Amino acid sequence: MDNLFVFDHPLIQHKISLLRDKRTTTKEFRELVSEVAMLMAYEVTRDLPLKEIEVETPVAIAKTRVLAGKKFALVPILRAGLGMVDGMLNLMPMAKVGHIGLYRDPVTLEPVEYYCKLPDDAVERDIVVLDPMLATGGSASAAVGFLKQRGVKNIKFMCLIAAPTGIERLHRDHPDVPIFCAAVDERLNDHAYIVPGLGDAGDRLFGTK
Ligand code: PRP
Ligand code: URA
Repeated sequence: MDNLFVFDHPLIQHKISLLRDKRTTTKEFRELVSEVAMLMAYEVTRDLPLKEIEVETPVAIAKTRVLAGKKFALVPILRAGLGMVDGMLNLMPMAKVGHIGLYRDPVTLEPVEYYCKLPDDAVERDIVVLDPMLATGGSASAAVGFLKQRGVKNIKFMCLIAAPTGIERLHRDHPDVPIFCAAVDERLNDHAYIVPGLGDAGDRLFGTK
């Protein structure tokens, strides 16, 4: 499928399996989410532009390349997206971080925005929206919609586990937004949880249940 990138790297797949295991503790879960996000950052940033510079090595002048100063921002969807921020920042310490707070109304399953704080220059930045789970796609689609309303144009969406329903919804609502994930699961259950998934990502990250 166009605009869908599934990372099948062995290290990522191994860590996703550990994340799925219900015996994984909150501490381990948090570490694993961060590690997978860091590994995924490597691919998500593959198209960053480079510029040529010269540096003096102890031996000679080297013509070499560095990032061309592209401006970047990470926007985790609260709460669970927070777990992916540190891992990404390990590789991209220059990125700014905005936050969007959304929760799924338990009855309608529709996303409700309760917080939004973006970098002042968000419209000039390439944005990666972070959320471990893409289930119905309601939260991701709403978050991307809120960013677009505020003038942001270049948006990528990065999650750990995606359901086909969520992928279809995000692609339909925002065909310009590429989706990066580590696994595409089978389906949603009656409570819109991903099957087999990993359970409630926020609760497992923060130990709230
Ligand atoms: C989870 C998850 C996503 C959303 C995905 O958050 O982190 O944001 O559900 O579901 P959707 O694709 O059907 O919208 P939740 O609403 O449970 O909030 P939390 O992060 O505060 O736990
Ligand atoms: N949100 C989660 O945290 N897990 C799911 O499986 C679906 C939505």
